[in-house]
Amino acid sequence: MLFMKWVLIFLFCCPVHLFARTVYLDELDTRYMVQDWGYPQVNKSVLGGPLRVAGVQYDRGIGTHSISRLLVALEGKALSFSGWAGADDLNDFGGNMEFELIADEVLVWTSGVLHKGMPALPFCIDLRGVRKLALLVKEGGDGIMYDHADWLDARFETMSGIMAEPCVPSAKINEAKYILTPQPSASPRINGPKVLGVRPGNPVLFTIPATGERPMRFNAEHLPDGLTLDPVRGVIKGTIRQAGTYNVALKAESSWGSDIRMLRIEAGDRICLTPPMGWNSWNCWGLKVDEQKVKDAADFMGKSLVQHGWAYINIDDGWEAEQRSGDGTLNGNAKFPDFRRLCGSIHDKGLKFGIYSSPGPQTCGGHLGSYGYEQKDAATWADWGVDYLKYDYCYYSQIAPAPTEVLIKHPYVVMRQALDRVKRDIVYCVGFGAPRVWYWGQEAGGNQWRTTRDITDEWNVVTAIGFFQDVCAPVVRPGQYNDPDMLVVGRLGQGWGDKVHDSYLTADEQYTHVSLWCLQSAPLLIGCDLSHIDDFTMNLLTNDEVIAVDQDPLAMPVRKLIRPEGQVWYKWLEDGSMAVGLFNVDPYFILWDQAKGETVQREKTAMTLTFSDLGLTGRFKVRDLWRQQDLGIFEGSYSTAVPYHGVRLIKLTPEK
Ligand code: GAL
Repeated sequence: MLFMKWVLIFLFCCPVHLFARTVYLDELDTRYMVQDWGYPQVNKSVLGGPLRVAGVQYDRGIGTHSISRLLVALEGKALSFSGWAGADDLNDFGGNMEFELIADEVLVWTSGVLHKGMPALPFCIDLRGVRKLALLVKEGGDGIMYDHADWLDARFETMSGIMAEPCVPSAKINEAKYILTPQPSASPRINGPKVLGVRPGNPVLFTIPATGERPMRFNAEHLPDGLTLDPVRGVIKGTIRQAGTYNVALKAESSWGSDIRMLRIEAGDRICLTPPMGWNSWNCWGLKVDEQKVKDAADFMGKSLVQHGWAYINIDDGWEAEQRSGDGTLNGNAKFPDFRRLCGSIHDKGLKFGIYSSPGPQTCGGHLGSYGYEQKDAATWADWGVDYLKYDYCYYSQIAPAPTEVLIKHPYVVMRQALDRVKRDIVYCVGFGAPRVWYWGQEAGGNQWRTTRDITDEWNVVTAIGFFQDVCAPVVRPGQYNDPDMLVVGRLGQGWGDKVHDSYLTADEQYTHVSLWCLQSAPLLIGCDLSHIDDFTMNLLTNDEVIAVDQDPLAMPVRKLIRPEGQVWYKWLEDGSMAVGLFNVDPYFILWDQAKGETVQREKTAMTLTFSDLGLTGRFKVRDLWRQQDLGIFEGSYSTAVPYHGVRLIKLTPEK
């Protein structure tokens, strides 16, 4: 290795000094390395085995994960940083990753996209005069989990001591949570989906989402035979016998006024014609979820969110009994004494109910999975009244040890067939971050598929997950959605289920997160504790104009443009207008703000949207969707200042 070091220095012209000494990366305090999964390992891979890349074993280094980052304070004392970077041989799926070195906010080295099997890449950078060096490992654009990343034989040549620094959560930088959206008006406004897909013969449950003062009375003209409306609660129920398209005129009326809107009911083969909107227990409660927590979430949704179209209450992992009963039924554990009753109470609020399982013998959380009991489980869930299934790819490697795309898809098809045999419309979520799942998720009969690793409320993770979704966007259409994971807003658990805290994302980062998910027609699944929700989070989750971008019936694939000042994401909407997000994304600067430990108000960035870049000509009415304000008529372009890590979400409507 000594020889290689000098080869490196020669190749990259790293500065040398007679009195310099070597400090290995693994000698720094690795507790300060932030990563999305596992813990940094000294001289081992993240799984604890040897550091090995493309068959070559390295004695020293740090085994980490993509995504990760470490900030090193050099204060001008270091001369160089050299070593190798590579994807560890123990990556199950060989996901893509990218290593980057950032010296005082300047990208000085990038590995390009690497994956398992590729030889480690050498680097040697000149650090003279550099104050801070950031080591980043980024998602390589495919969203695949199990990206085990190694910094190998990495060392500083330095004149005196250097140290790793903590990266504090970004919310500490900018604590001001500001509300952009005005309160809904007192007079009725019908929100939520404009199209509903149901299967003839299966139970229908739809609550008309309407904001405005109560009491309110509802009406639904031209309801298909078999459906009835509760005029006080606005809940439509029943079973449609006859396939077909039914155009129903919904009306909401109160002493403040009235609103009318059409709802197209498509009774046929397809369900879930707009992205599901709901809550999932995982990101706040993890395996500590219990019946009371679920009921609390349902109470809150039934009271304050259903008016905006939120509908699903989904239990993630942690509900399962330790053993199946004699006839193979998997019941709830002691925390969930009676699922039929719980499900019924959720339906009584006009809401829907979701459950979780895995195709392997165990779930990701180590509970019993559905392997070998797919039909039994589907029947049990149908009997309880389940409306949504998250089927999470875990422990199937015990059945198919060398997973390939075909082998992973197979158990999803098996569960699809089982769901097709029960008399319920069950939204089907195909498990987490499997390789290229967006190409086969629909063939496996999924309505949505997790395109990425698990999200956390860390800016690097949210950007890594969110801003690469254009890769998979072309497959999106009504009933088939990419799922970039839950919304990490509000009060969340850490790890999950412990250390409940307010989302570590800043206010602007949360506006970015929700806007980007809506532009992508992503399933919106709230990950926070709904029983402790603050005004800021409510504002994020109840802007009906923003939600309408997500729920647009066309579900057109979103597109992305990269600009020096940030990114532009845009999609066509059913009414002939276009939703556009101007994002001020900068993954690097935050590291420096954090290092200073100061409250830093970053400058806004001026961004200009040139309409012809989106293929648009003519004059457009521009509306700010978060503020629900018209900004005027623009021709050719629109310029605005976008907050640091923030967004301007606008709608362009052609002016006749
Ligand atoms: C993970 C999944 C999480 C959660 C967890 C439960 O694999 O991505 O969203 O469902 O399993 O154990």
